Amino acid sequence: MSVDVLLGLQWGDEGKGKIVDVMAPRYGMVARFQGGPNAGHTLEFDGIKHVLHQIPSGIFRKDIKNVIGNGVVLDPVIFRREVEALRERQVDVRSNLYISNKAQLILPTHGLLDACYEQSKGNQKIGSTLKGIGPTYQDKIARLGIRVGDVLEDDFTDRYRALVEKHRNILDYYQYSYDLEEREQAFLEAIEHLKTFNIVDTVYLVNNALRHGVSVLAEGAQGSMLDIDFGSYPFVTSSNTMIAGVCSGLGVPPSRIRQVYGIFKAYCTRVGSGPFPTELHDDTGERLREIGREFGATTGRPRRCGWLDLPALKYAIMINGVTQLFMMKADVLNDFEEIKVCTRYKLSDGQVAEEIPYNIDHHKLEPVYHTLPGWEQQLNGVKDFDQMPGALHTYLDYLEQELQIPIGIVSVGPDRTQTILNPELSLG
Ligand code: GDP
Ligand code: IMO
Ligand code: MG
Repeated sequence: MSVDVLLGLQWGDEGKGKIVDVMAPRYGMVARFQGGPNAGHTLEFDGIKHVLHQIPSGIFRKDIKNVIGNGVVLDPVIFRREVEALRERQVDVRSNLYISNKAQLILPTHGLLDACYEQSKGNQKIGSTLKGIGPTYQDKIARLGIRVGDVLEDDFTDRYRALVEKHRNILDYYQYSYDLEEREQAFLEAIEHLKTFNIVDTVYLVNNALRHGVSVLAEGAQGSMLDIDFGSYPFVTSSNTMIAGVCSGLGVPPSRIRQVYGIFKAYCTRVGSGPFPTELHDDTGERLREIGREFGATTGRPRRCGWLDLPALKYAIMINGVTQLFMMKADVLNDFEEIKVCTRYKLSDGQVAEEIPYNIDHHKLEPVYHTLPGWEQQLNGVKDFDQMPGALHTYLDYLEQELQIPIGIVSVGPDRTQTILNPELSLG
């Protein structure tokens, strides 16, 4: 069988958690392949909202195996909190969750280093979630990291202490003051908790499943514009959020990948610093934030809001080889008289660009907009494509024409049920 992939095409928070939950019954396995607790994936059903950070969003479907792949960085303290929050809601993750022994461990000092590096950046801060993501991937690449499988080894504590010592030296160099004691105690307790879970070689687990006819849905975190190689560097996260991350983060060959589902909001948001050409600093931006409840699922920070950016979306579609698009949060635009879409950028030298410039400086470029009529009606009762208002059809047709990829899902609310499937396309 094959691997289908769901990837965020913007700056994260496109609604990946909701859609993975909706799609999961079509698969036998859901797997996270990169990122860590910087992710906040929200799903809603039966009137309850869940936010997952490291546990895959297929966890509520009992018959499905959920995998935390080798490309993920795992914080055992946050993991423990997530497990406990789920248990309070009668969801037992122990039987259908598998954690890669090759995933990297986030230590308490990684979080401290994250904060220390951010502080040292002055007005060039990335706006990191400060979950220790960057420093943990840094140690992985430097071949210093500690992996989840190491917690089962006799010398784990020695290795932990040795790495902490290295981190302390860096923190001292920066004259960064910190208190490790409390964090360390919680960490060591969380390690004992982590040991009781299924820690396995998920590379074999996933590939054996594929060989035996199980189909896999790979759940992306963040979005392509935050990719370490292809995003707006240095204002990015520290992993490959794009399609290549699936192969390196799960150990599956590219030939196994079938559908690449690209998910985007009907407008744009970004949390943290970095270029955002269509950002709105006016009442319209404020309206999008209020109606869309655009506040971070991990940090609670207000998200920056703006109109849809087609050059950025086309770029993300190009690098990922997207086969089908899912458009989220259409309902947020219900009351807008008109909707704008950026088609090109006008540069400071007067030239017009359809491609994203190197070292993009959003202060020096001006989006060129195409304006479409709003549908100015509620989408609550809309259950299928035929019932959609004409202006929404016009919006979708326009995007399909521009992007040359069909739109398979339109989401009209946060709940599992508020999902409209395109009858002409097949999923899963
Ligand atoms: P993720 O990180 O990609 O999983 O997305 P987040 O969970 O961080 O952010 C998406 C937010 O939008 C969450 O609060 C969802 O509950 C909400 N959401 C998802 N789809 C829709 C939709 O179609 N309409 C509305 N109004 N909210 C949605
Ligand atoms: P999900 O999976 C939105 C952003 C941070 C910051 C930059 C680097 O929920 O879509 P990091 O903590 O990785 O060092 O932060 O990336 N960021 C996200 N923004 N959604 C996310 O995840 C994000 N994960 C990281 O705000 O700008
Ligand atoms: Mg999120």
